[in-house]
Amino acid sequence: LGKDIRHFMELESTNDYAKTIARDANEGTVILAESQKKGRGRKGFDWVSPQGGIWMSIVLKPSIVPADASKLTLLGGLAVVDSLKSIGLNPSLKWPNDVLVNGKKICGILTEMEAEIDRVEYIVLGLGINLNFDTDMLPEEIRDGSTTISDELGNYVDRLEFFRSLLYNLEQYYIHFKTQSFEELMERWIDSSDTIGRNVRIVTPSKMVDGRAIGISLSGGLLLQKNDGSTEEIMSGRCIYI
Ligand code: BTN
Repeated sequence: LGKDIRHFMELESTNDYAKTIARDANEGTVILAESQKKGRGRKGFDWVSPQGGIWMSIVLKPSIVPADASKLTLLGGLAVVDSLKSIGLNPSLKWPNDVLVNGKKICGILTEMEAEIDRVEYIVLGLGINLNFDTDMLPEEIRDGSTTISDELGNYVDRLEFFRSLLYNLEQYYIHFKTQSFEELMERWIDSSDTIGRNVRIVTPSKMVDGRAIGISLSGGLLLQKNDGSTEEIMSGRCIYI
């Protein structure tokens, strides 16, 4: 990954740009922007992306079915966790795609894909990491629930070094994903997770389910033990701790 890195001072959104070039791009092409004017979060939310952060998207072309795409989001989270640990932080993962430090969001992941019914054409794995800027730069509505690496550490970190570490970890996990079973990655995810064992409410456009998060399924979904005792696999949704 990262043999071809396209670096921009400013883009609307690295995911949007990546999608325009993905079809003809080599697997592993990285789009990196110093800032984004229209960074996108999940569910159509804005993602505020000032200078100092790492706003990047990677084009991946694994031979998988669309239902397996959410595994790549989990894999992205694992890579970010390792890089954060290597600079002395103690991160945890919140299903499906948040990386937290001290209970606050430090990174978000937006995985998008182009696919036919039974085959993924490409995946754009978008990673937004709040690195070297003050949490005060973020809009008031999300400030309390967010943090940045420099605020957590009390100093700036070498951005290039962190980017390198992240690409390296992503590549290791991606190779593992392509060549070995998902089970080990899933166990690793659960080990670093802040979600498993908690009572949660999952909100999707069509429903709301309460229950206890008891695991991750082999397709990367959240296993929820509902109050009536039955288990449901949730593939996507917003997760609220209750
Ligand atoms: C979320 O938690 O809602 C996901 C946030 C994903 C943000 C990243 S920043 C790089 C890439 N480009 C985008 O427009 N979004 C993702």
